[in-house]
Amino acid sequence: MKLSGKKQGHKAARKPPDFDFSGMLVAWQKRHGRHALPWQQTRDAYRIWLSEIMLQQTQVTTVIPYYARFLSRFPDVTALSTASQDVVMAEWSGLGYYSRARNLHRCAQLVVSEYGGHFPSDPALLEKLPGIGRSTAAAISVFSSGARAAILDGNVIRVLSRVFGIAEYAGSKKVRDALWQLAESLLPEKELEAYTQGLMDLGATVCVRSRPSCPLCPFSSYCVAFRENRIKELPARKPSKALPQRQV
Ligand code: ADE
Repeated sequence: MKLSGKKQGHKAARKPPDFDFSGMLVAWQKRHGRHALPWQQTRDAYRIWLSEIMLQQTQVTTVIPYYARFLSRFPDVTALSTASQDVVMAEWSGLGYYSRARNLHRCAQLVVSEYGGHFPSDPALLEKLPGIGRSTAAAISVFSSGARAAILDGNVIRVLSRVFGIAEYAGSKKVRDALWQLAESLLPEKELEAYTQGLMDLGATVCVRSRPSCPLCPFSSYCVAFRENRIKELPARKPSKALPQRQV
């Protein structure tokens, strides 16, 4: 599929898939997805936010014990907001990417001061808070209030690039914007939680970067990368700079 971004004020004319992507993903998630992760047992935005920040750059198996310890130390956003930065950093120690912990602490203080201790449910407001990008804002609002918002992280880019045969490298703003448009166009009308979790689960357990388990994938009959034997080339890697040519 050629991604078409918005051009000259016209809305992109991209053909919808001729299969029920979201319906098939929801059905697959219910049967084969993950249902017992610690942050799936709640609609508490604080717990969901904490999990999404921890999961931004860290694997699920590493996050689980940190998540449990963090919650027992800081059971709610007020407890986190009133803790000292040193104590927060000590609890985060070992998870890496420490700017996440500093943003987490600032975010907790803002949620208390600006929103009376309640996370906003609107992804546009969540995205204004420190450490929360567009995809994380969408995930938090889907899982805490069933909002209809699209996620787009590295795993989702891989799934979409393979299933729809997107050959452009996702580094540029133009391609990113078009991928966001595609992600939004695929959203179902209902069951946003199972759909969003399904995208995460498929990317983490089946459509993995190397040696994906294509026979287990609900989209194997439709997936461009699988059908055309292009798994290794999708998603497109960053183009390497052409070596300078020397005249001899
Ligand atoms: N990665 C990012 N968010 C996640 C979630 N809610 N569950 C599992 N993996 C994730």
